[in-house]
Amino acid sequence: MTLKNNRFLRALRRDPVDCTPVWLMRQAGRYLPEYRATRKAAGSFLAMAKTPDIACEVTLQPLRRFPLDAAILFSDILTVPDAMGLGLYFVEGEGPKFERPLRSPADIARLAVPDMETDLRYVMDAVRTIRRELDGSVPLIGFSGSPWTLACYMVEGGGSKDWGRVKALALNEPAAMHQLLSTVTDAVIAYLAAQRAAGAQALQVFDTWGGVLSPAMYREFSLPYLARIARELKTADVPVILFGKGNAPHLDDLFASGADAIGVDWTVTLEDAARRNQGRVALQGNLDPAMLYGNPDAVRAQVRATLDSYAAGNGGSRDGHVFNLGHGLSPDMNPEHVAALVDEVHAYSRR
Ligand code: CP3
Repeated sequence: MTLKNNRFLRALRRDPVDCTPVWLMRQAGRYLPEYRATRKAAGSFLAMAKTPDIACEVTLQPLRRFPLDAAILFSDILTVPDAMGLGLYFVEGEGPKFERPLRSPADIARLAVPDMETDLRYVMDAVRTIRRELDGSVPLIGFSGSPWTLACYMVEGGGSKDWGRVKALALNEPAAMHQLLSTVTDAVIAYLAAQRAAGAQALQVFDTWGGVLSPAMYREFSLPYLARIARELKTADVPVILFGKGNAPHLDDLFASGADAIGVDWTVTLEDAARRNQGRVALQGNLDPAMLYGNPDAVRAQVRATLDSYAAGNGGSRDGHVFNLGHGLSPDMNPEHVAALVDEVHAYSRR
């Protein structure tokens, strides 16, 4: 299938493009009134994610408003542990929770890789539905959580301020921790491969909590599993993006991991990241989402600075850059500011 707009996939291959592509993490979400209306009608976030037609509708909402260069599947990273039997639910204002978190090495030993076309069929059906509805307009991104980030929620039973339980497990029961990460990695690889088979045209891994680890623990408990995912999913035509919050200290290892692109947050300049990269992979990022609280002119100035920072570190060329935020949009952000961001990326980077 030929895409009408393939600048996102071209940039991920570091091929020349007419202007820098842009998509935004959590581009479908509560900051959009049409999302809030769909969510109200569906009853809950999980009901939306588990109904392919609704997941498709919500995926397309931001694309109707803004000329974004990619769609991202509307789902969640916690669908995989849910399918492994942990029982995902959401408490209003408290975020995700599990009914049956992992509390012992015996709980970990019992885990099995779920079947993608039965246990996670609703995700694959959503991918197929979205691909059909996109009709080649822009590419569709599939995604998963990283093994470490999924293990964080599986062991804690929800979000945490200090991730004490999962770090204690890593310290006190390292063999059980590696068994958990290894099983989850098998599940993540099968999950992403199934999304690809269903039609996903790029794959992103969210290592949201890798940055809470010390460098030594990151190198033991997150990086090797990310690298295995990148290696085992390597193909010529469906690129793999590894996004990590707080991954700046580990960029040299990530550039050599086998991934096609690395997503970075705003704690590193793109100039510095691009210099260290030396053209090996594409870079995605990295505007601080809080910059969207600025007025539209301020947002535009921040966008230009981000684009120029990348070019300064990449020998003056804007190629090999996918514009994004350094993390997701928040519910209180103004869609008009998002419109200014997307417009400025395209206008200012026009070759
Ligand atoms: O980026 C996109 O537009 C695609 C959709 C997407 C969602 N979650 C939708 C969602 C993606 C890629 C995710 C990934 C995800 N989920 C991550 C990794 C990315 C990141 O933000 O670092 C994490 C850590 C989760 C776990 C999770 N799910 C959290 C912390 C929350 C927020 C809970 C809350 O009450 O704020 C969710 C729920 C969730 N996932 C929402 C959305 C739009 C909000 C649900 C709602 O409508 O109430």
